[in-house]
Amino acid sequence: MSDHDNSLSEPVSVPLVTEPWGMMQTLQAVRQNVLSIIPQIATKQPIVSGKMIKRWHMVTDPEALRRVMLEKLDNYPKSEVTKNLLRPAIGESLFIAEGAHWRWQRRTVAPVFSQRNVLNLAPIMSAAAERSALRLARYGTNRAINMFDEMITATFDVIADVTFSGDGSFDRNAVHSVIEAYIGDAAKVSLFDMLALPNWIPRPGRILFGQGLKKTKGQADRVIEERRKYHGNKIPDLLDLLLDGEDPKTKRKMNTAELRENLLTFIVAGHETTALSLSWSLYLCAFDSNVQERAQTEARAVLSDGRVATGEDVARLPFIRQVIDEALRLYPPAGMVSRNAVARDELCGRTIRPGDIVILPFYALHRNELLWDHPNKFDPDRFADRKSIERFSYLPFGDGPRICIGASFALQEAVIILATLLSRFRFTPIPGRDPKPVMILTLRPEGGVWLKAEPV
Ligand code: HEM
Repeated sequence: MSDHDNSLSEPVSVPLVTEPWGMMQTLQAVRQNVLSIIPQIATKQPIVSGKMIKRWHMVTDPEALRRVMLEKLDNYPKSEVTKNLLRPAIGESLFIAEGAHWRWQRRTVAPVFSQRNVLNLAPIMSAAAERSALRLARYGTNRAINMFDEMITATFDVIADVTFSGDGSFDRNAVHSVIEAYIGDAAKVSLFDMLALPNWIPRPGRILFGQGLKKTKGQADRVIEERRKYHGNKIPDLLDLLLDGEDPKTKRKMNTAELRENLLTFIVAGHETTALSLSWSLYLCAFDSNVQERAQTEARAVLSDGRVATGEDVARLPFIRQVIDEALRLYPPAGMVSRNAVARDELCGRTIRPGDIVILPFYALHRNELLWDHPNKFDPDRFADRKSIERFSYLPFGDGPRICIGASFALQEAVIILATLLSRFRFTPIPGRDPKPVMILTLRPEGGVWLKAEPV
Protein backbone atom coordinates (compact mmCIF):
# COMPACT_ATOMS: atom_id res chain seq x y z
CA MET A 1 0.00 0.00 0.00
CA SER A 2 1.29 3.45 -0.84
CA ASP A 3 1.37 6.65 1.23
CA HIS A 4 -1.95 7.92 0.01
CA ASP A 5 -4.00 4.80 0.39
CA ASN A 6 -7.23 5.81 2.02
CA SER A 7 -9.35 2.79 1.23
CA LEU A 8 -10.13 2.28 4.93
CA SER A 9 -11.17 5.85 5.70
CA GLU A 10 -13.87 8.03 4.24
CA PRO A 11 -13.68 11.02 1.91
CA VAL A 12 -15.03 14.42 3.03
CA SER A 13 -18.77 14.78 3.69
CA VAL A 14 -21.27 17.32 5.05
CA PRO A 15 -22.19 17.12 8.75
CA LEU A 16 -25.96 16.64 8.77
CA VAL A 17 -28.34 17.96 11.43
CA THR A 18 -28.87 15.61 14.35
CA GLU A 19 -31.37 17.58 16.46
CA PRO A 20 -34.44 19.66 15.64
CA TRP A 21 -33.51 23.23 14.78
CA GLY A 22 -35.35 26.46 15.35
CA MET A 23 -36.17 28.80 12.51
CA MET A 24 -33.21 31.17 13.04
CA GLN A 25 -30.74 28.35 13.26
CA THR A 26 -32.14 26.83 10.09
CA LEU A 27 -32.00 30.13 8.24
CA GLN A 28 -28.41 30.62 9.27
CA ALA A 29 -27.45 27.12 8.20
CA VAL A 30 -29.19 27.49 4.86
CA ARG A 31 -27.28 30.67 4.21
CA GLN A 32 -24.01 28.80 4.69
CA ASN A 33 -24.78 25.45 3.17
CA VAL A 34 -28.15 24.24 1.91
CA LEU A 35 -27.16 20.62 2.46
CA SER A 36 -26.68 21.17 6.15
CA ILE A 37 -30.44 21.41 6.65
CA ILE A 38 -30.77 17.76 5.70
CA PRO A 39 -31.34 15.92 8.95
CA GLN A 40 -29.18 12.90 9.65
CA ILE A 41 -32.35 10.79 9.85
CA ALA A 42 -32.93 11.40 6.11
CA THR A 43 -30.04 8.98 5.61
CA LYS A 44 -31.79 6.36 7.78
CA GLN A 45 -35.49 6.75 6.95
CA PRO A 46 -37.59 6.83 3.77
CA ILE A 47 -39.32 10.15 4.56
CA VAL A 48 -38.81 13.02 7.00
CA SER A 49 -41.37 15.80 7.38
CA GLY A 50 -41.39 19.15 9.12
CA LYS A 51 -42.77 22.64 9.00
CA MET A 52 -41.08 25.97 8.45
CA ILE A 53 -43.68 28.46 7.20
CA LYS A 54 -44.73 25.67 4.81
CA ARG A 55 -45.00 21.93 5.42
CA TRP A 56 -42.08 20.09 3.85
CA HIS A 57 -41.19 16.45 3.24
CA MET A 58 -37.77 15.04 2.38
CA VAL A 59 -38.18 11.85 0.40
CA THR A 60 -35.50 9.18 0.08
CA ASP A 61 -37.74 6.20 -0.65
CA PRO A 62 -37.25 4.90 -4.23
CA GLU A 63 -40.96 4.07 -4.70
CA ALA A 64 -42.06 7.52 -3.50
CA LEU A 65 -39.43 9.16 -5.74
CA ARG A 66 -40.77 7.19 -8.70
CA ARG A 67 -44.22 8.57 -7.91
CA VAL A 68 -43.03 12.19 -7.64
CA MET A 69 -40.74 12.17 -10.68
CA LEU A 70 -42.55 9.78 -12.99
CA GLU A 71 -46.02 8.51 -12.17
CA LYS A 72 -47.56 11.70 -10.75
CA LEU A 73 -45.30 14.23 -12.47
CA ASP A 74 -48.11 16.76 -12.97
CA ASN A 75 -48.86 16.80 -9.22
CA TYR A 76 -45.32 17.87 -8.47
CA PRO A 77 -44.11 20.79 -10.63
CA LYS A 78 -40.66 22.15 -9.92
CA SER A 79 -40.79 24.55 -6.97
CA GLU A 80 -40.14 28.24 -7.36
CA VAL A 81 -36.84 27.92 -5.48
CA THR A 82 -34.50 27.28 -8.39
CA LYS A 83 -36.78 28.88 -10.93
CA ASN A 84 -36.62 32.26 -9.18
CA LEU A 85 -32.84 32.11 -9.21
CA LEU A 86 -32.50 31.12 -12.82
CA ARG A 87 -35.40 32.84 -14.56
CA PRO A 88 -33.63 36.22 -15.02
CA ALA A 89 -30.87 34.45 -16.97
CA ILE A 90 -32.67 31.65 -18.77
CA GLY A 91 -36.31 32.74 -18.99
CA GLU A 92 -39.00 30.11 -19.52
CA SER A 93 -36.57 27.64 -21.11
CA LEU A 94 -36.72 23.85 -20.99
CA PHE A 95 -35.25 23.78 -17.47
CA ILE A 96 -37.92 26.03 -15.99
CA ALA A 97 -41.10 25.67 -18.08
CA GLU A 98 -44.03 23.46 -17.05
CA GLY A 99 -46.95 21.82 -18.84
CA ALA A 100 -47.45 22.38 -22.56
CA HIS A 101 -44.68 24.99 -22.81
CA TRP A 102 -42.21 22.48 -21.34
CA ARG A 103 -43.50 19.57 -23.47
CA TRP A 104 -43.02 21.21 -26.87
CA GLN A 105 -39.54 22.39 -25.92
CA ARG A 106 -38.57 18.94 -24.67
CA ARG A 107 -39.83 17.33 -27.91
CA THR A 108 -37.81 19.88 -29.92
CA VAL A 109 -34.60 19.58 -27.92
CA ALA A 110 -34.53 15.80 -27.34
CA PRO A 111 -33.24 14.90 -30.86
CA VAL A 112 -30.45 17.49 -30.49
CA PHE A 113 -28.94 15.28 -27.75
CA SER A 114 -29.29 11.98 -29.65
CA GLN A 115 -26.45 9.51 -29.24
CA ARG A 116 -25.16 10.26 -32.74
CA ASN A 117 -25.15 14.02 -32.27
CA VAL A 118 -23.41 13.73 -28.90
CA LEU A 119 -20.76 11.44 -30.42
CA ASN A 120 -20.22 13.93 -33.25
CA LEU A 121 -19.35 16.58 -30.64
CA ALA A 122 -16.66 14.40 -29.02
CA PRO A 123 -13.72 15.98 -30.95
CA ILE A 124 -14.51 19.29 -29.21
CA MET A 125 -14.29 17.50 -25.84
CA SER A 126 -11.02 15.79 -26.83
CA ALA A 127 -9.53 19.15 -27.87
CA ALA A 128 -10.49 20.66 -24.50
CA ALA A 129 -8.94 17.65 -22.71
CA GLU A 130 -5.70 18.14 -24.67
CA ARG A 131 -5.56 21.85 -23.79
CA SER A 132 -6.21 21.05 -20.13
CA ALA A 133 -3.37 18.49 -20.10
CA LEU A 134 -1.03 21.07 -21.67
CA ARG A 135 -1.95 23.65 -19.01
CA LEU A 136 -1.28 21.11 -16.24
CA ALA A 137 2.10 20.23 -17.74
CA ARG A 138 3.04 23.92 -17.66
CA TYR A 139 2.38 24.12 -13.91
CA GLY A 140 5.20 21.68 -13.24
CA THR A 141 5.34 18.91 -10.67
CA ASN A 142 5.66 20.81 -7.43
CA ARG A 143 2.92 23.39 -7.65
CA ALA A 144 -0.45 22.92 -5.99
CA ILE A 145 -3.14 23.32 -8.65
CA ASN A 146 -6.76 24.16 -7.99
CA MET A 147 -8.29 21.43 -10.14
CA PHE A 148 -11.79 22.87 -9.66
CA ASP A 149 -10.74 26.07 -11.45
CA GLU A 150 -8.96 24.01 -14.09
CA MET A 151 -12.04 21.85 -14.73
CA ILE A 152 -14.26 24.96 -14.87
CA THR A 153 -11.99 26.26 -17.65
CA ALA A 154 -12.02 22.93 -19.51
CA THR A 155 -15.79 22.46 -19.39
CA PHE A 156 -16.47 26.08 -20.28
CA ASP A 157 -14.24 25.58 -23.33
CA VAL A 158 -16.47 22.71 -24.37
CA ILE A 159 -19.84 24.32 -23.74
CA ALA A 160 -18.81 27.60 -25.40
CA ASP A 161 -17.55 25.68 -28.44
CA VAL A 162 -20.78 23.72 -28.84
CA THR A 163 -23.13 26.66 -28.35
CA PHE A 164 -21.90 30.03 -29.59
CA SER A 165 -18.67 28.99 -31.29
CA GLY A 166 -17.05 30.32 -34.43
CA ASP A 167 -18.17 33.89 -34.15
CA GLY A 168 -15.66 36.53 -33.12
CA SER A 169 -18.35 38.86 -31.81
CA PHE A 170 -19.15 36.55 -28.92
CA ASP A 171 -16.84 37.47 -26.06
CA ARG A 172 -16.43 34.11 -24.31
CA ASN A 173 -14.55 35.42 -21.32
CA ALA A 174 -17.06 38.16 -20.69
CA VAL A 175 -19.93 35.68 -20.94
CA HIS A 176 -18.14 33.32 -18.60
CA SER A 177 -17.67 35.98 -15.93
CA VAL A 178 -21.26 37.17 -16.23
CA ILE A 179 -22.61 33.65 -15.77
CA GLU A 180 -20.24 32.83 -12.91
CA ALA A 181 -20.99 36.10 -11.14
CA TYR A 182 -24.69 35.66 -11.68
CA ILE A 183 -24.82 32.15 -10.25
CA GLY A 184 -22.47 33.00 -7.38
CA ASP A 185 -24.46 36.06 -6.48
CA ALA A 186 -27.90 34.58 -6.99
CA ALA A 187 -26.92 31.66 -4.80
CA LYS A 188 -26.00 33.92 -1.92
CA VAL A 189 -29.54 35.15 -1.68
CA SER A 190 -31.12 31.76 -2.25
CA LEU A 191 -32.42 32.00 1.30
CA PHE A 192 -35.23 34.21 0.04
CA ASP A 193 -36.08 31.61 -2.48
CA MET A 194 -35.98 28.74 -0.01
CA LEU A 195 -38.83 30.51 1.71
CA ALA A 196 -40.51 31.14 -1.62
CA LEU A 197 -40.90 34.87 -1.10
CA PRO A 198 -42.57 36.64 -3.99
CA ASN A 199 -40.43 37.24 -7.02
CA TRP A 200 -40.74 41.04 -6.97
CA ILE A 201 -38.55 41.40 -3.89
CA PRO A 202 -35.36 42.99 -5.26
CA ARG A 203 -32.26 40.88 -4.87
CA PRO A 204 -28.69 42.02 -5.31
CA GLY A 205 -28.00 39.70 -8.23
CA ARG A 206 -30.69 41.15 -10.35
CA ILE A 207 -29.46 44.67 -9.78
CA LEU A 208 -25.71 44.10 -9.97
CA PHE A 209 -25.62 41.82 -12.93
CA GLY A 210 -28.62 43.11 -14.82
CA GLN A 211 -26.39 45.05 -17.22
CA GLY A 212 -23.91 42.23 -17.80
CA LEU A 213 -26.73 39.79 -18.46
CA LYS A 214 -28.38 42.20 -20.86
CA LYS A 215 -25.16 42.52 -22.84
CA THR A 216 -24.65 38.75 -22.92
CA LYS A 217 -28.19 38.23 -24.17
CA GLY A 218 -27.62 40.83 -26.91
CA GLN A 219 -24.39 39.15 -28.02
CA ALA A 220 -26.05 35.74 -28.03
CA ASP A 221 -28.91 37.05 -30.18
CA ARG A 222 -26.44 38.46 -32.71
CA VAL A 223 -24.60 35.11 -32.97
CA ILE A 224 -27.92 33.30 -33.49
CA GLU A 225 -29.01 35.73 -36.21
CA GLU A 226 -25.64 35.40 -37.99
CA ARG A 227 -25.79 31.62 -37.82
CA ARG A 228 -29.29 31.62 -39.27
CA LYS A 229 -27.82 33.18 -42.42
CA TYR A 230 -24.97 30.77 -42.95
CA HIS A 231 -24.80 27.41 -41.42
CA GLY A 232 -24.11 24.12 -43.07
CA ASN A 233 -21.05 22.17 -44.20
CA LYS A 234 -19.26 21.79 -40.81
CA ILE A 235 -20.23 19.29 -38.10
CA PRO A 236 -23.36 20.78 -36.55
CA ASP A 237 -23.02 22.09 -33.00
CA LEU A 238 -25.90 22.54 -30.53
CA LEU A 239 -26.89 25.90 -32.05
CA ASP A 240 -27.03 24.47 -35.60
CA LEU A 241 -29.04 21.50 -34.37
CA LEU A 242 -31.47 23.70 -32.47
CA LEU A 243 -31.86 26.05 -35.43
CA ASP A 244 -32.88 23.06 -37.56
CA GLY A 245 -35.01 21.58 -34.80
CA GLU A 246 -38.78 21.66 -34.65
CA ASP A 247 -41.46 20.14 -32.50
CA PRO A 248 -42.38 16.93 -34.35
CA LYS A 249 -45.97 17.28 -33.13
CA THR A 250 -46.82 20.91 -33.85
CA LYS A 251 -43.95 21.81 -36.26
CA ARG A 252 -43.28 24.86 -34.09
CA LYS A 253 -39.70 26.16 -34.29
CA MET A 254 -37.87 28.20 -31.68
CA ASN A 255 -37.58 31.94 -32.20
CA THR A 256 -34.36 33.80 -31.41
CA ALA A 257 -35.26 34.50 -27.77
CA GLU A 258 -36.23 30.86 -27.18
CA LEU A 259 -33.02 29.63 -28.82
CA ARG A 260 -30.96 32.01 -26.70
CA GLU A 261 -32.72 31.03 -23.47
CA ASN A 262 -32.15 27.35 -24.14
CA LEU A 263 -28.51 27.77 -25.17
CA LEU A 264 -27.85 29.82 -22.03
CA THR A 265 -29.63 27.05 -20.11
CA PHE A 266 -27.16 24.51 -21.49
CA ILE A 267 -24.29 26.71 -20.32
CA VAL A 268 -25.77 27.29 -16.86
CA ALA A 269 -27.00 23.71 -16.34
CA GLY A 270 -24.18 21.91 -18.08
CA HIS A 271 -20.84 23.49 -17.47
CA GLU A 272 -20.36 23.81 -13.73
CA THR A 273 -22.11 20.48 -13.07
CA THR A 274 -19.70 18.65 -15.38
CA ALA A 275 -16.71 20.50 -13.90
CA LEU A 276 -17.90 19.38 -10.46
CA SER A 277 -18.14 15.73 -11.49
CA LEU A 278 -14.57 15.93 -12.76
CA SER A 279 -13.21 17.83 -9.76
CA TRP A 280 -14.76 15.44 -7.26
CA SER A 281 -13.55 12.45 -9.33
CA LEU A 282 -10.01 13.82 -9.25
CA TYR A 283 -10.25 14.53 -5.51
CA LEU A 284 -11.39 10.93 -4.94
CA CYS A 285 -8.60 9.50 -7.13
CA ALA A 286 -6.03 11.50 -5.17
CA PHE A 287 -7.73 10.35 -1.94
CA ASP A 288 -7.45 6.65 -2.84
CA SER A 289 -4.26 5.87 -4.72
CA ASN A 290 -5.28 2.24 -5.38
CA VAL A 291 -8.32 3.40 -7.30
CA GLN A 292 -6.22 5.99 -9.11
CA GLU A 293 -3.74 3.32 -10.14
CA ARG A 294 -6.49 1.07 -11.54
CA ALA A 295 -8.02 3.97 -13.47
CA GLN A 296 -4.61 5.03 -14.72
CA THR A 297 -3.76 1.52 -15.91
CA GLU A 298 -7.02 1.36 -17.85
CA ALA A 299 -6.52 4.80 -19.40
CA ARG A 300 -2.92 4.10 -20.38
CA ALA A 301 -3.84 0.76 -21.96
CA VAL A 302 -6.52 2.36 -24.14
CA LEU A 303 -4.52 5.50 -24.92
CA SER A 304 -1.31 3.51 -25.31
CA ASP A 305 0.35 5.89 -27.77
CA GLY A 306 -0.15 8.89 -25.48
CA ARG A 307 -3.04 10.24 -27.52
CA VAL A 308 -6.08 12.06 -26.18
CA ALA A 309 -9.27 10.05 -25.47
CA THR A 310 -11.98 10.14 -28.16
CA GLY A 311 -15.71 9.52 -28.18
CA GLU A 312 -15.13 5.99 -29.49
CA ASP A 313 -12.83 5.25 -26.52
CA VAL A 314 -15.57 5.91 -23.96
CA ALA A 315 -16.98 2.37 -24.15
CA ARG A 316 -13.46 1.00 -23.61
CA LEU A 317 -13.00 2.91 -20.34
CA PRO A 318 -15.53 1.25 -17.99
CA PHE A 319 -13.55 1.76 -14.78
CA ILE A 320 -13.05 5.48 -15.48
CA ARG A 321 -16.84 5.65 -15.89
CA GLN A 322 -17.32 3.80 -12.57
CA VAL A 323 -15.14 6.38 -10.80
CA ILE A 324 -17.31 9.16 -12.24
CA ASP A 325 -20.53 7.32 -11.29
CA GLU A 326 -19.27 6.93 -7.72
CA ALA A 327 -18.20 10.60 -7.56
CA LEU A 328 -21.72 11.53 -8.69
CA ARG A 329 -23.13 9.36 -5.91
CA LEU A 330 -21.00 10.86 -3.12
CA TYR A 331 -21.14 14.44 -4.43
CA PRO A 332 -24.16 14.80 -6.72
CA PRO A 333 -23.75 18.29 -8.29
CA ALA A 334 -27.51 18.80 -7.86
CA GLY A 335 -27.45 17.80 -4.17
CA MET A 336 -31.17 18.39 -3.79
CA VAL A 337 -34.08 19.65 -5.86
CA SER A 338 -37.58 20.50 -4.75
CA ARG A 339 -41.14 20.34 -5.96
CA ASN A 340 -44.41 22.05 -5.02
CA ALA A 341 -47.26 19.63 -4.37
CA VAL A 342 -50.35 20.90 -6.19
CA ALA A 343 -52.71 18.01 -5.38
CA ARG A 344 -53.43 15.81 -2.40
CA ASP A 345 -51.39 12.62 -2.43
CA GLU A 346 -49.80 10.03 -0.19
CA LEU A 347 -46.07 9.28 0.00
CA CYS A 348 -44.75 6.50 2.27
CA GLY A 349 -48.14 6.48 4.03
CA ARG A 350 -47.94 10.20 4.78
CA THR A 351 -50.51 12.69 3.51
CA ILE A 352 -49.16 15.31 1.14
CA ARG A 353 -51.32 18.45 0.88
CA PRO A 354 -51.44 20.99 -1.91
CA GLY A 355 -48.89 23.72 -1.09
CA ASP A 356 -46.48 21.35 0.67
CA ILE A 357 -42.85 21.41 -0.45
CA VAL A 358 -41.45 18.03 -1.44
CA ILE A 359 -37.66 17.97 -1.27
CA LEU A 360 -35.71 15.34 -3.21
CA PRO A 361 -32.40 15.30 -1.33
CA PHE A 362 -30.18 13.32 -3.71
CA TYR A 363 -27.19 13.82 -1.41
CA ALA A 364 -29.01 12.01 1.42
CA LEU A 365 -30.58 9.46 -0.95
CA HIS A 366 -27.12 8.47 -2.17
CA ARG A 367 -25.96 8.04 1.42
CA ASN A 368 -29.10 6.35 2.74
CA GLU A 369 -28.22 3.34 4.89
CA LEU A 370 -31.33 1.44 3.80
CA LEU A 371 -30.10 1.55 0.19
CA TRP A 372 -26.28 1.49 0.28
CA ASP A 373 -23.66 -0.55 2.15
CA HIS A 374 -21.13 1.70 3.91
CA PRO A 375 -22.67 4.68 2.13
CA ASN A 376 -19.93 7.17 3.01
CA LYS A 377 -17.19 4.95 1.64
CA PHE A 378 -15.63 5.58 -1.79
CA ASP A 379 -16.00 2.36 -3.77
CA PRO A 380 -16.29 2.56 -7.58
CA ASP A 381 -16.87 -1.22 -7.71
CA ARG A 382 -20.48 -0.60 -6.65
CA PHE A 383 -21.01 0.34 -10.28
CA ALA A 384 -19.24 -2.69 -11.79
CA ASP A 385 -22.66 -4.22 -12.44
CA ARG A 386 -24.98 -1.31 -13.16
CA LYS A 387 -28.02 -3.58 -13.21
CA SER A 388 -27.55 -4.14 -9.48
CA ILE A 389 -28.27 -0.44 -8.79
CA GLU A 390 -31.96 0.13 -8.07
CA ARG A 391 -33.25 2.79 -10.50
CA PHE A 392 -34.68 5.35 -8.07
CA SER A 393 -31.94 4.98 -5.46
CA TYR A 394 -29.33 6.70 -7.64
CA LEU A 395 -30.45 9.96 -9.24
CA PRO A 396 -27.55 12.28 -10.09
CA PHE A 397 -29.41 13.31 -13.26
CA GLY A 398 -32.94 13.04 -11.85
CA ASP A 399 -35.34 10.65 -13.60
CA GLY A 400 -38.68 10.46 -15.39
CA PRO A 401 -39.72 12.87 -18.15
CA ARG A 402 -37.67 15.72 -16.64
CA ILE A 403 -34.45 13.72 -16.46
CA CYS A 404 -31.35 15.73 -17.40
CA ILE A 405 -31.31 16.08 -21.16
CA GLY A 406 -27.52 16.52 -21.19
CA ALA A 407 -26.64 13.38 -19.16
CA SER A 408 -24.94 11.43 -21.95
CA PHE A 409 -23.22 14.60 -23.20
CA ALA A 410 -21.86 15.22 -19.67
CA LEU A 411 -20.78 11.62 -19.09
CA GLN A 412 -19.00 11.41 -22.44
CA GLU A 413 -17.19 14.67 -21.72
CA ALA A 414 -16.24 13.61 -18.19
CA VAL A 415 -14.86 10.22 -19.35
CA ILE A 416 -12.83 11.85 -22.17
CA ILE A 417 -11.28 14.48 -19.89
CA LEU A 418 -10.68 12.23 -16.85
CA ALA A 419 -9.14 9.42 -18.93
CA THR A 420 -6.85 11.84 -20.78
CA LEU A 421 -5.64 13.50 -17.57
CA LEU A 422 -5.15 10.20 -15.69
CA SER A 423 -3.21 8.72 -18.60
CA ARG A 424 -0.69 11.55 -18.30
CA PHE A 425 -0.58 12.60 -14.62
CA ARG A 426 -0.63 11.14 -11.13
CA PHE A 427 -2.62 13.34 -8.75
CA THR A 428 -1.73 13.70 -5.08
CA PRO A 429 -3.54 15.63 -2.34
CA ILE A 430 -2.07 18.62 -0.52
CA PRO A 431 -2.18 17.79 3.22
CA GLY A 432 -4.52 20.05 5.17
CA ARG A 433 -6.28 21.36 2.07
CA ASP A 434 -9.21 18.99 1.72
CA PRO A 435 -12.20 20.54 -0.02
CA LYS A 436 -15.36 21.16 1.99
CA PRO A 437 -18.60 20.17 0.23
CA VAL A 438 -20.93 23.17 0.25
CA MET A 439 -24.26 23.23 -1.48
CA ILE A 440 -25.21 26.58 -2.95
CA LEU A 441 -26.95 26.12 -6.27
CA THR A 442 -24.71 23.12 -6.88
CA LEU A 443 -22.57 21.00 -4.54
CA ARG A 444 -19.22 22.76 -4.70
CA PRO A 445 -15.84 22.03 -3.10
CA GLU A 446 -15.35 25.13 -0.96
CA GLY A 447 -11.75 26.21 -1.03
CA GLY A 448 -11.17 24.34 -4.29
CA VAL A 449 -9.69 20.93 -5.05
CA TRP A 450 -5.96 21.44 -4.57
CA LEU A 451 -3.77 18.69 -5.99
CA LYS A 452 -0.32 18.15 -7.40
CA ALA A 453 -0.12 16.74 -10.92
CA GLU A 454 3.01 14.71 -11.58
CA PRO A 455 3.60 13.50 -15.15
CA VAL A 456 3.65 9.68 -15.48
C1 HEM B 1 -22.66 15.96 -14.57
C2 HEM B 1 -23.33 16.94 -15.14
C3 HEM B 1 -24.80 17.20 -14.93
C4 HEM B 1 -25.59 16.91 -13.84
C5 HEM B 1 -25.19 16.24 -12.52
C6 HEM B 1 -26.93 17.36 -14.15
C7 HEM B 1 -28.03 17.21 -13.31
C8 HEM B 1 -29.34 17.50 -13.67
C9 HEM B 1 -30.51 17.21 -12.87
C10 HEM B 1 -30.49 16.53 -11.49
C11 HEM B 1 -31.59 17.63 -13.56
C12 HEM B 1 -33.07 17.49 -13.11
C13 HEM B 1 -33.47 18.62 -12.20
C14 HEM B 1 -34.85 18.43 -11.60
O1 HEM B 1 -35.51 17.40 -11.86
O2 HEM B 1 -35.28 19.31 -10.84
C15 HEM B 1 -31.12 18.22 -14.80
C16 HEM B 1 -31.93 18.78 -15.76
C17 HEM B 1 -31.45 19.40 -16.89
N1 HEM B 1 -30.14 19.43 -17.33
FE1 HEM B 1 -28.56 18.58 -16.44
N2 HEM B 1 -26.94 17.91 -15.41
C18 HEM B 1 -25.66 17.82 -15.92
C19 HEM B 1 -25.23 18.22 -17.17
C20 HEM B 1 -26.01 18.84 -18.12
C21 HEM B 1 -25.58 19.27 -19.43
C22 HEM B 1 -24.18 19.04 -20.00
C23 HEM B 1 -26.64 19.90 -20.03
C24 HEM B 1 -26.75 20.53 -21.39
C25 HEM B 1 -25.78 20.67 -22.25
C26 HEM B 1 -27.75 19.85 -19.08
C27 HEM B 1 -29.00 20.39 -19.30
C28 HEM B 1 -30.11 20.14 -18.50
C29 HEM B 1 -31.46 20.60 -18.85
C30 HEM B 1 -31.86 21.43 -20.07
C31 HEM B 1 -32.31 20.12 -17.84
C32 HEM B 1 -33.82 20.33 -17.72
C33 HEM B 1 -34.54 19.21 -18.44
C34 HEM B 1 -36.05 19.29 -18.35
O3 HEM B 1 -36.58 19.78 -17.35
O4 HEM B 1 -36.71 18.83 -19.31
N3 HEM B 1 -27.34 19.20 -17.94
N4 HEM B 1 -29.74 18.11 -14.84
